[in-house]
Amino acid sequence: MSENTFYVTTPIYYVNDVPHIGHVYTTVAADVIARYMRSAGCRVMFLTGTDEHGQKVEQAARERGLDPQAHCDEMVVRFKDLWRRFNISNDDFIRTTEKRHIAVVQHFLKTMHDSGDIYKASYSGWYCVPDERFWTEKDLVEGNCPDCGREVVQIEESNYFFRMSRYQDWLVSHIEANPDFIRPETRRNEILGFLKKPLEDLCISRPKSRLHWGVEIPFDTDYVTYVWFDALINYVTGAGYTVDDEGFAAFWPNCTHLIGKDILTTHTVYWPTMLRGEGLAPPRRVFAHGWWTVEGRKMSKSLRNVVEPNLLLDRYGGDAVRYFILREVPFGLDGDFSHAALVGRINSDLANDLGNLLQRSLGMLEKYRDGVIPPAPAEAEMGELSRGLVQAAAAAGAELAGHMEVLAFDRALKAVWEFIGAANKYIDSAAPWVLHKEAKDAKLDSVMYTLFEAIRQVAVMISPFMPETGQKMFRQLGIAGRKELARVTSLQQWGRMPGGTRTFKGPALFPRIEEVPGVGLEEEPGVSPSAGPGTGSADTGEEKVDNVISMDDFAKVELVTGKVLEAENVPRSKKLIRMVVDTGEKRQIVAGIAEYYSPADLVGRSIAVVANLAPARLMGVESNGMLLAAHDEGGLALVTFDKDVRPGMRIR
Ligand code: ME8
Repeated sequence: MSENTFYVTTPIYYVNDVPHIGHVYTTVAADVIARYMRSAGCRVMFLTGTDEHGQKVEQAARERGLDPQAHCDEMVVRFKDLWRRFNISNDDFIRTTEKRHIAVVQHFLKTMHDSGDIYKASYSGWYCVPDERFWTEKDLVEGNCPDCGREVVQIEESNYFFRMSRYQDWLVSHIEANPDFIRPETRRNEILGFLKKPLEDLCISRPKSRLHWGVEIPFDTDYVTYVWFDALINYVTGAGYTVDDEGFAAFWPNCTHLIGKDILTTHTVYWPTMLRGEGLAPPRRVFAHGWWTVEGRKMSKSLRNVVEPNLLLDRYGGDAVRYFILREVPFGLDGDFSHAALVGRINSDLANDLGNLLQRSLGMLEKYRDGVIPPAPAEAEMGELSRGLVQAAAAAGAELAGHMEVLAFDRALKAVWEFIGAANKYIDSAAPWVLHKEAKDAKLDSVMYTLFEAIRQVAVMISPFMPETGQKMFRQLGIAGRKELARVTSLQQWGRMPGGTRTFKGPALFPRIEEVPGVGLEEEPGVSPSAGPGTGSADTGEEKVDNVISMDDFAKVELVTGKVLEAENVPRSKKLIRMVVDTGEKRQIVAGIAEYYSPADLVGRSIAVVANLAPARLMGVESNGMLLAAHDEGGLALVTFDKDVRPGMRIR
């Protein structure tokens, strides 16, 4: 087994559904663990995707007058767009309608049919004609369809079955021998309890006369396979089964499936026995998390309380939501989503504890040391307080690693916040303002260095949870792009923050939110202008045109006004000018305009700046942003304003 790999998956979501907070939960959790493991030096594969076959999809497509594939192609965009907005770093996105997947499903069917694990038998059940659905006797409610309440008829049908019962004893011993296979413990016990009764064989086909939209059974083309049999196999397709032996061998043994508790049996009974039938090992771990209710009530379309993630993103930003859902509830237990609780966390943990730590530290550094981090003190020169903070950092790093190993995200974050608390306390106790007043320069240097190394470590620790905030912090700390200083592995050594680094004080990471919204955020799914597929053209009736972007795409570009405070030519460059620009925060921007403007021309001017561009290095000088200019062969003209503007105004 390859030790340095990590494979994490989410369920593949029904493509028909509107993405909601539950889908976001599993996907964000998978993203956080994937980012953490990458940062810790692992080779990571992170897979998510959509489940696209079955009756409901076929029906929805028919109602819209579309071919099922065209319907899926449109619907899948909602998931893909949402994951982009939440900064989900999946390495692959699998759709069960892809050829690569269909081939693997048929491979399973064939192997298992050849070995006698799949057999044909007659099946009798209750059928709801209008719903086109089969029910067993015990599903019925007062003899009627449990879904629509209408009459059902008894029919007999031939179908294919998976001889799941054959693997019951093996499954029980596997669960008993591998305590980590089903997590948390309560779910493991639940399945062991379920397996006390004899396992029945599983019906895995549907005749085409009832359902077309599925994977055809290769040895009997009158049938398609049942949606769950098809769906579960996505996890090995995604890992390269049958096409990439090396990749599959590297990743499959280290696979963690994250799922909600609703789909525990399929993942811990059907799936491992199917794998056994195919001659493959079970996944290493299946972790079933709990369910969210909303403002104390079960989430349901009829209650119109399905939390629409795009609205949450618009209102609070992705990082705050990511933080909240993983901090608020232990992974594995049920939780309640409420705006008041979310706003509470934003104001106390994010704005107060984390935001203030950075803001006040940068403020002091600017005031006492012109924004430049002093050199690292020799260990012997560090006082008691500083040594205490170093220890707190080591403890937080170790706790983080331990909790991430078992997916205890809430405890991991709690440990990081204890460290943030320790850093805030360090400021109060070390009182840099007193050291400054009393001109204790060496001591002030030592304290400021220690503080900024602690903040760097905080940024490293929070980055997997809040990638955008981590980037903002690295930018303000003046170490954007220095990957070696951003990895979890860099926590093992205190003092990696380079002395002499120039920091850039920026706007608050998380402005406080004063009012808690009531209505307006829990709207019917799909009402958000940003929730529709793609460019929203399905909502507006506009025609889709290539090269057209949505408002949402445009809104991602943070355009602001800036005032040039300093400018100078970059040594040895004919084209580049280095500027310090006030955009509400001081930032360094390098622009290729020296052939058209002299530095003296620029100082004092108001310009338009792209503020959220990834930092870049030009001739070794870091640039944090880009200015706007019109340019062609004839010349270059800076974008300016026809009235006085204040630095940091948003341009829309
Ligand atoms: O079940 N709280 O897809 P699905 C927390 N296609 N998580 C929730 C939730 C809630 N209230 N509601 C849903 C399917 N989830 C199948 C899966 S996998 C081979 C096939 C999350 O769109 C949770 O992860 O109904 C749950 O397992 C998943 O959404 C179900 O998504």
